[in-house]
Amino acid sequence: MVASTGTTAREGWSSRSAFVLAAIGSAVGLGNLVRFPAEAGANGGGAFVLFYIFCVVLIGLPVLLSEVLIGRHGQAAAPLSFRRIAEESGGSGAWSIVASLGVFSAFLVLSFYCVLGGWVLYYIGLFGADVFLSGPASGAFAGSSFEEVDALFGAMVSDGLSTSLLDIVFLAITFLFVARGVSGGIEKVAVYLMPAFFFLLLAITIYGMFGGAMARTVDYLFTFEPEKLTGEVMLAAVGQAFFSLSLGVAGMVTYGAYVGRDVNLASTSGVIAGADTAVALIAGLCIFPIVFAAGLEPSGGLGLMFQTLPHAFSDLPFGTLIGLAFFVMVAFAALTSSVSLMEAPTSWAMDRLGLARPVAAMLVTGAAAVLGVLSALSTGALAGFHPLGFIPLFEGLGILDLLDSFTGKLTMPIGALLTSVFVGWVVSRRLLDEESGLGGGVHRFWLFLVRWFCPLMLALILVSGIFPETTARLFATLGAG
Ligand code: TRP
Repeated sequence: MVASTGTTAREGWSSRSAFVLAAIGSAVGLGNLVRFPAEAGANGGGAFVLFYIFCVVLIGLPVLLSEVLIGRHGQAAAPLSFRRIAEESGGSGAWSIVASLGVFSAFLVLSFYCVLGGWVLYYIGLFGADVFLSGPASGAFAGSSFEEVDALFGAMVSDGLSTSLLDIVFLAITFLFVARGVSGGIEKVAVYLMPAFFFLLLAITIYGMFGGAMARTVDYLFTFEPEKLTGEVMLAAVGQAFFSLSLGVAGMVTYGAYVGRDVNLASTSGVIAGADTAVALIAGLCIFPIVFAAGLEPSGGLGLMFQTLPHAFSDLPFGTLIGLAFFVMVAFAALTSSVSLMEAPTSWAMDRLGLARPVAAMLVTGAAAVLGVLSALSTGALAGFHPLGFIPLFEGLGILDLLDSFTGKLTMPIGALLTSVFVGWVVSRRLLDEESGLGGGVHRFWLFLVRWFCPLMLALILVSGIFPETTARLFATLGAG
């Protein structure tokens, strides 16, 4: 066994609700506010949404419980937790590699997530300046055409100096909380910002209700047309479910290590997954009415947040103020997620390198800043640089998109797959019985899911991510047959 100072084991959440809020803070982020609405729109609305909920319950929740359980029983940074449990169960200590891979991918996600966080800060600046210039009651960017509002995004992403600096600002804010420790910093950011986030989300949703487009939104998001449930839609839903729950990068293992013995892990995981899903659905009910009320059509991807919504705000009463509130809300959600992404490599550096927390966090911040600046420049000065462009999967991708694809299509599904195999097949039954907080039939059902269902579904996502065309053809053939 690796000599360990076990530093992380001495820290812990001050209460169950602090843990619940921090975990919800990790889960709720850009994935709920941008990715979910965009994916739902692109994938047939109701069919996607319904299947998404199915995936959260049958894949997300069992893997979430597995991750938190490994952390709590291991009481250490993720790799050491995996090793301890493997050895206690008579398995190989090499399972810690799964967590090491996870910690590394959490670091990669952190590096580009904070670039996007910096973009959000930039838009807070744009709307904030507008509130001062035109007052809170007017539409945003009064006097600008849609094209001019659109062009703000292009101007931002090609402005490498601003995006690099804002990336570093976002990283530095994240650092301030991580450096103060679990109960002193990480849970503080969640305890203050999550309630503020929920308040803003509800306020903006209610504002949207008055625009008159709620009926169309509900129609758009919830009309279930079974024929739209194709293989591709199902795979998009599975991928979205575990991205949104922060699974597959050992982040929830790390948070689990700070959970007390008296907490029921199963019911707590249920609360976390339920809240994350509710926020995704409410985000849809918040964003689309605003878009529809302005007479716009939803666009996919990042354009929805950085172009379509600013358009809409430019056309609506109190658009400057609501726009500002909206981007502040997004920044809060992104910050509680980036804190969790930084904590995984930080706790690793504390355990493995024996560093004090602030030093470990500084090391991670510095490394993430270097990679982050490269990502920030990849939409401008480095736009033509495609580091792994010779691999078909990564063809034509700049650093930012490459890191997103590499983690989303490879390391996260692999991490989640191996975690569920580990819990399903390696960890001793006695340990699972003691830790899961489940009884009888539900416990057996959970075991069935982590042994068979989750690995199978995750393997499918992985294959479809690597061979999109072959998989699409296969599904088309199956559908036709
Ligand atoms: N779940 C967050 C979101 O929806 C992002 C996130 C935080 C994440 N930690 C993660 C995603 C770990 C994958 C893995 O925005």
